[in-house]
Amino acid sequence: MKRVIVFLLLSAAIVTSCGDRPGRETILRNVDPRVDSLLRIMTLEEKIGQMVLFTSDWDVTGPTIREGYLDDIRSGRCGNIFNAYTVDYIRELQRVAVEESRLGIPLMFGYDVVHGHKTVFPIPLGESCSWDMDLIRRSASAAAAEAAASGLNWTFAPMADISVDPRWGRVSEGAGEDPYLGSMIARARVKGFQGSDLSNPLTVLACVKHFAAYGAPFGGRDYNTVDMSERQFREFYMPPYKAGVDAGALSVMTAFNEYDGVPATANAYLIKDLLKGDWNFQGFVVTDYTSINEVVHHGYARDDADAGVKAVNAGVDMDLQGEVYFNYLKGLVESGYVSQRRIDDAVRRILNVKAKLGLFDDPYRYCDNAREDKVVSNPEIKALSRDVARKSMVLLKNDSCLPFDRGDRIAVIGELAASKRDLLGSWKAAGEWDSISSILDAVRAYNGPANVIYAEGCKKMGTDRSGFKSAMDAVSQADKVLMVIGEDWDWSGEAASRTDIGVPGVQSELLQMIASSGKPVAVVLLNGRPLVLEEESMAADAILEAWYPGTMGAEAVTDLIFGQYNPSGKLTMTFPRNVGQIPIFYYEKNTGRPIYLPSDKYKSKYLDSPNDPLYPFGHGLSYTDFEYSDLTISSPVMKKGKTIEASVKVTNIGQRTGEETVQLYIRDLIGSVTRPVKLLKGFAKLTLAPGESKTVTFTISEDMLAFWKHDMTFGTEEGDFKVMVGGSSSELLQAAFTLVP
Ligand code: NOJ
Repeated sequence: MKRVIVFLLLSAAIVTSCGDRPGRETILRNVDPRVDSLLRIMTLEEKIGQMVLFTSDWDVTGPTIREGYLDDIRSGRCGNIFNAYTVDYIRELQRVAVEESRLGIPLMFGYDVVHGHKTVFPIPLGESCSWDMDLIRRSASAAAAEAAASGLNWTFAPMADISVDPRWGRVSEGAGEDPYLGSMIARARVKGFQGSDLSNPLTVLACVKHFAAYGAPFGGRDYNTVDMSERQFREFYMPPYKAGVDAGALSVMTAFNEYDGVPATANAYLIKDLLKGDWNFQGFVVTDYTSINEVVHHGYARDDADAGVKAVNAGVDMDLQGEVYFNYLKGLVESGYVSQRRIDDAVRRILNVKAKLGLFDDPYRYCDNAREDKVVSNPEIKALSRDVARKSMVLLKNDSCLPFDRGDRIAVIGELAASKRDLLGSWKAAGEWDSISSILDAVRAYNGPANVIYAEGCKKMGTDRSGFKSAMDAVSQADKVLMVIGEDWDWSGEAASRTDIGVPGVQSELLQMIASSGKPVAVVLLNGRPLVLEEESMAADAILEAWYPGTMGAEAVTDLIFGQYNPSGKLTMTFPRNVGQIPIFYYEKNTGRPIYLPSDKYKSKYLDSPNDPLYPFGHGLSYTDFEYSDLTISSPVMKKGKTIEASVKVTNIGQRTGEETVQLYIRDLIGSVTRPVKLLKGFAKLTLAPGESKTVTFTISEDMLAFWKHDMTFGTEEGDFKVMVGGSSSELLQAAFTLVP
């Protein structure tokens, strides 16, 4: 048996490597001895095969440019497959690799398990609004368990791209605009996916993507050019990638965009110097879908072969679907454009991860039908998905409208109210929707079918108003209205940029009409990005941002609408008033002409719009109210290397128990480079019964004050700081301290 060759090969010699171009790239540590033994007997073609990742013919997520991948596996020319799942299918592909290829090296199986596998969790932007790291870790861990039980061992997640532009549809896959929160979430998701032992067959390899700065395309247009200063990159965009790598992620995906004029997929600075060098990344780097080939379109390479040289020498270890390594790498090595050493380094990185996944101990480790039956879609995972969905939703507005009482006569309006597919969002992975509840189903089940009058009213897209009348008839028979509006599931996510981020079609027009009836109207939003909601927020009495909440999303919406669960989510991305305000984010700079009075002419402002957003970062209401008081600082002076404490009293002044996320922001008043007006530096979640108060204490340490100084070293500068604490980035109590030597 071929695989015997792999298992019996043991070697004491651990060969280390570095790439071609001298740089900061460091060496691999603790390489499994079997890897180097294998390397010694592999042909160049077999080595390159390990650097190839092809899609199976299932669930294709981009242009398919290749057929016959089974023959490639058999010949050892394709060492990794994505878009295949289920134990039976994966076992068959693995059997071909292990039994029919010369060396029997097991395949690695990847898939976009971005927010759940069979049981779909809320989109990551939604999940981030829970500000609950343990919950986010558990959700990633449950997704990993389902995926691994379906035969997979690698997910292309987390997406760690910061973005301040909601026109970019992929904000749905990220953690919002904030580098600190984004870093914590990247860490939690990597830990959740990978667990503490990669060889555990209920965990999968994580892939931090898209390296780097993919979230900042000009105009919010997906795949567009990115250009930013290194300072901007290091301070705001880089931290979540680094946090994911520091958390132990052993794969990183390059981005489609360029960085500093060089496509990220051929960018030696990003990959060799920063990732594999400064950060000492021990895993492997994979391209995004055909992004090596796209280096040619970028105008950075003459042809695919030239792109291949540039990518591999920049440190890219694996080509996802591009066929560039497959077709050209052997010739490039033979003609001296690429060194054997670079190939060995890439293959060593990839095989070492396969060893860590336990594939050299048992290539069928992830292929257990009994485990698949037991784990996939089990009730605990579904219950977790419901809980995550509840905690992800953000109550944007509530004028004494929600919660509804059970038994209220409710008109449910909107195509999206009856939709199942839209609840799952764009990366649904293996998620199925036929068997899940729509919001209409769940409201009927909870409130009693006789108390629910449904009218579609209008579609989520298009201009057809023929259903308006029946919607108004339904409203006239009801006490209250629940209108579900938003975006089609495919209108956010990859390749889903928009210039108008309002609610599409005539949904808002119908909302206005319904609001004029005088009946209380609660809007539930299903969408994947911050939307422009000025009109809707004037028309509706309440707005619940439900995002795309996943498999159990309908039940979760119902839990919140009827007050079975008290909303607790807080926005992690600013909702602008209009598209013209974009990019808009809470950590802006003060500028030389900050606006104090709207009437001042020569100030940094718009003539036709306020500067402030409709719903700021950190905003989110509850069915109770919280009062902040008594912000105190333990000392007005903080010595370098020491800490001080900021304490605040939070009181539940409403009638219900509720959960609040207390946010700490800091401003460095004067720096060697200008500093943002505030930066999130900590937060705490607490639950308070009616009338109850708790004091929250934050420890402020010097690392929280550090930044990339003018000389591009990372550290602190002495001087004055402002401390701000509150329940949203725009409602904050203030105190001050000075950092001294
Ligand atoms: C392209 C996307 O940008 C990336 O996020 C995804 O992982 C790959 N396609 C594979 O599906």
